[in-house]
Amino acid sequence: MSRFDDLFAAAGAARANAHACYSGFAVGAAILTRDGNIFAGCNVENASFPEGWCAETSALGAMVSAGGRPGDVVEVVVTADAVLCTPCGGCRQRLAEFASDETPVHVCDTKGLRQTLTLAELLPARFVLKDEDRNR
Ligand code: THU
Repeated sequence: MSRFDDLFAAAGAARANAHACYSGFAVGAAILTRDGNIFAGCNVENASFPEGWCAETSALGAMVSAGGRPGDVVEVVVTADAVLCTPCGGCRQRLAEFASDETPVHVCDTKGLRQTLTLAELLPARFVLKDEDRNR
């Protein structure tokens, strides 16, 4: 069952803490794991611009730090004040490492859902290091 409402609330709360003073573009992300836990994160920018990172990456870092592993991500919400804040290319690859092709990624503005895409739709033909992981 979808936990969209809980994920949207968690992503919004994380977004409120975004350190986005250079772009002015605050993003929040929340991940649901298969054991029912939610991990959220925001983007964290830096005066040395390339050193900043995305909200999805923060949320993944929180999940992995708590013991999350590949296959654990079952639902994702991203929220920003934008028409369609789809995850960047790097975050798609990072999410793919811990999700499955069918994992829904709900792309939201600050009011609610704009579009749901699966990870396979966001990142077809993702990079896989080991052939045995290809159909995971
Ligand atoms: N950003 C995210 O946090 N997630 C996305 O899905 C797209 C972009 C951040 C990176 C940067 O801090 C700001 O948004 C503007 O690019």
